[in-house]
Amino acid sequence: MQNYRIRTARFQLIVSFFSSLILFTFVQIFAFFFPFEQSLLVSAFVFTVSFVTQFILETNALTKDYRLLLDHIDSIDLFVKTLSAGKLSARMNVENVGAISHVEQSLNELADKIDTQVKSLQRLVDENVQMNVKIKNEAVTAERQRLARDLHDAVSQQLFALSMLASAAEKTIHSNPDLAAENIADVSDIARKAQGEMRALLLHLRPVRLNNESLDKGLERLIHELDGKTMIHFEASIHPVPGLTKGVENHLFRLSQEALSNALRHSEATKVVLSLHEKDQLVTLTIFDNGQGFDPKQEKIASYGLKTMKERAEEIGGHFMLTAHEGEGTSIHIRVPIHREAKENDREN
Ligand SMILES: Nc1ncnc2c1ncn2[C@@H]1O[C@H](COP(=O)(O)OP(=O)(O)OP(=O)(O)O)[C@@H](O)[C@H]1O
Ligand SMILES: [Mg+2]
Repeated sequence: MQNYRIRTARFQLIVSFFSSLILFTFVQIFAFFFPFEQSLLVSAFVFTVSFVTQFILETNALTKDYRLLLDHIDSIDLFVKTLSAGKLSARMNVENVGAISHVEQSLNELADKIDTQVKSLQRLVDENVQMNVKIKNEAVTAERQRLARDLHDAVSQQLFALSMLASAAEKTIHSNPDLAAENIADVSDIARKAQGEMRALLLHLRPVRLNNESLDKGLERLIHELDGKTMIHFEASIHPVPGLTKGVENHLFRLSQEALSNALRHSEATKVVLSLHEKDQLVTLTIFDNGQGFDPKQEKIASYGLKTMKERAEEIGGHFMLTAHEGEGTSIHIRVPIHREAKENDREN
């Protein structure tokens, strides 16, 4: 900019000099044809006045232009910074000041393009997320169906074992009553296990998601159904938690199902308590059973339920805690922060 200024000043100096020189020559020519006194002095005076006046006026005008140009460059700089800071809705005020207004116009068009491209990029990301969720849900549904089939197979095998044991007991009841008693004890053990598997089957055959109902209603329905169909006593303390997104509600419902399935299959409990409530911007879900408990440190190779539950809770920004001791029941505690703003966005979309 400084160079530009020096260059234009120099140019102005030359232009003023030569135009004043022309004026000087004119006065000299005039004096040649119509001589008058001190013509050289007059010509020199005309030259000086013309030169100084022109130089001052032009330089003044140029300085004004230069300031205007600097103002525009400043506002272009600010605009580019605003765009790079992510405020893509910003646009420049285009004033009709020659070439620079074309630059501003072009920058506005560029901002329009970037804005549109970012919007379509976000739409693509959203679609991608939705597609991933869909694929994941389908995989989960397939997995649950597989689980249900496995449970069914396990029960079929147990029924087969029961009939074998019962007929063995029948055959040996007179000749070897002790062996028959052992068989009958096995029968009752296997029957109890089969009963647990059958209860869990109830859960696994249920629809995986909430059917357009709120989490509290879905849980109430689930508990009511289980209470009616099993010998276990179910207690529920369920409070509606407004402001949860559908994703969080679905995850919490699935977590409850998984925990209840474990209680039905493994706990041999007589009582299961489920509670859902909100406290300090956190939704808390607790599932407790008074069954036989277990040692959580002993990992089972082919067991995924608890691991998946932990992952699922963390996926929605929550915290998963399991407390279990042999002979003292099991409790699962899940806490998830509530993002009410996210829910608002959900509704808008
Ligand atoms: N409520 C419970 N009461 C007693 N034992 C439990 C309870 N929940 C879990 N367990 C024990 O922890 C183990 C692991 O549970 P997990 O849910 O991870 O797997 P799983 O139920 O065996 O198989 P799946 O992968 O089908 O869920 C169970 O096999 C069981 O021994
Ligand atoms: Mg399980």
